[in-house]
This record gives sequence, C-alpha cells and structure tokens, in this order.
Amino acid sequence: MKEGYIGILTSGGDASGMNATIRAITRSAICNGYKVKGIYRGYEGLINDEIRELTTEDVSNIIQRGGTILKTARSKDFETPEGRKKAYEVMQKEKIHTLFVIGGDGSLTGARIFAQEYDVPCIGLPGTIDNDLWGTDLTIGYDTALNTIVECVDKIRDTATSHERIFFVEVMGRDAGFLAQNSAIASGAEAAIIPEDQTDTDQLEEFIGRGFRKTKNSSIVIVTESPTGKGANYYAERVKREYPQYDVRVTILGHLQRGGSPSAGDRILASRLGCASIQAMMEGQRNVMIGIRNDKVVYVPFAEAIKKNKPIDKSLITVLNELSI
Ligand code: F6P
Repeated sequence: MKEGYIGILTSGGDASGMNATIRAITRSAICNGYKVKGIYRGYEGLINDEIRELTTEDVSNIIQRGGTILKTARSKDFETPEGRKKAYEVMQKEKIHTLFVIGGDGSLTGARIFAQEYDVPCIGLPGTIDNDLWGTDLTIGYDTALNTIVECVDKIRDTATSHERIFFVEVMGRDAGFLAQNSAIASGAEAAIIPEDQTDTDQLEEFIGRGFRKTKNSSIVIVTESPTGKGANYYAERVKREYPQYDVRVTILGHLQRGGSPSAGDRILASRLGCASIQAMMEGQRNVMIGIRNDKVVYVPFAEAIKKNKPIDKSLITVLNELSI
C-alpha cells in the first residue's frame, strides 16, 4: 500500500451517478495500491474534518442509488481564505495527498483556487445534471435527469391532450439549456425556450406564430429555469394576457429531476471517469477535470472546464422546429 490517502468529496447540487463515481474512484484506487478517505458534506466537511476511511465494502451496493452517500453542500466557508487554510490543515492531518472533487462548475472553481493557493493536486469529475461543463460531451447525472424529465412530460402530454391545453414545463439547468432542448426533442414537445437562444421574445412568438393548434390538440413548451424570473410562469402569464383564447397551465418539475436511480449511461460514464481519474493521478496529472469527448476520456484543465461557456449545438433547434410542425 502507498503512503497517505486520496480524499473524495461530492459538492454542489447532487446528481444521480455520484455514488457510482465514488465507488469507481474508491475501487480503482484500492486496486492500484492506494488508500481512500471519504470526506462528508463537501468542502464543509473538509474544513470540519468529517472524514473517514472508505473500503471496497463501503461502496458496495451503491452503484444503483441516487444522491450521494458522502452527502453534499455548497460551502460558504470554503469561499474564504480562512476556510481554505483550515481545509488544507485538515488534509495534512488526515494525510490526504490528492483531492478528488465530484461536482459542477462551482465545485471545480473551488478546487482550482485551492490547488493554486496550496499546491495541492486536485482532480475533478463532472457531476451535475446541467451538463454545462466545457470540454466534456456529458456530465454525470445529466442522462438520468433527462430521462426523468421525458417520463414526466409524457404524463403531462396525456392531460394536456385531454383538455386541449398549452403547458409550460420548467426544467432545471441553471443557465444552460441542454436539459430543456434535448428533453423537448425526446418528448416530442412543440418548443423549447433556452438561455443560449438570446431572442426569447422570438422563441415564444415563433411558437405561437406557428399556430399551435392547427394540427394538434395540445402543446408543450419546455422552459429552462431562469434566475431573472423568465421561467415557465413568465411565459404562461404572457400567453394568458396576449392570447386569452388559449387554456394555459404550468408545471415546474423542480428537484425530482435530481433524484432517482442512475441510468445505465450515467453508471457507465461514472465508472469510466472514476477509473480514468486514478489513472490520471498515477500519470502525474493534477488540476484537471476528467471528461469524455467523442467517447474517449480526456483531461481538461480546470481553467477551461469552468471558464468557457459550453455551446449548445444549434442544429438541435432546427431538429426540434422541423419535428414539431
Ligand atoms: O446545478 C444543479 C442544479 O440542480 C441546477 O440545475 C439548479 O439551478 C440548482 O442546482 C438548484 O440548486 P438547489 O438544490 O440548491 O436549489
């Protein structure tokens, strides 16, 4: 066995497949002669020394479970230099030589700053339903959330059709439209309103302009949640005001999108990236996110993964428009 431990934490919003990732990192590490410690409650637990060793048995029977056995948090303390200093001291005390961070852009931003300040090797794994990290085609949890949304929209379609209504369905994604755009295609929705398409007026007008009831007796518009208040309710109110002849309803899917057993795709992605993260450490890589591009594992420097806006393929908008006539 090698000296010291690797440390694993999950941070930010949970995502299905985080447990599969913890399992993969732990088992691959042990296979390669490393010892593993689990850090509870993200960076908060690192600061507060909520840490214990993980064995292969500790990660048995979790590949199929949503959430994260390590718990998660968005740590305000870690945003301060004092908090990060404490975190570093705890790492020294616990003999953790490399930190594995599973999370989204906020979590990887934290890892980047920490790595720079204390010269600590950090390896990131993209765990977020939003799919918004640059440099990886997919993030762990996205596929499961997408499938959950599609299942819900299928159900909404039944009632929408029976009552001949327009539904605005709000999905998560923070400021990224991957969940909205692709769930709209997969569920046969009539339109998606996404932040990447800046002309939001046009998005709604175009949908209305197409005459949603010409050939159909229900319509579903998937809307990305909005920090500026332009979510599903905003569009529903506008349609009610401007087109009072339409019968409009809103469904906000909320946190159910984050739960549930991970899809096979997410379990495989988590397993591949988890093993690759240990390989990366053994190759001397540090301060990189392990991603997947064209079905090949890639190492993406933190600075790139978090700084660049991951673009949505605009041809997806055409696909949706053509197929929702
Ligand atoms: O980043 C994941 C995510 O689910 C976003 O899609 C969403 O905006 C946010 O987290 C919600 O965060 P919280 O669980 O803190 O409400």
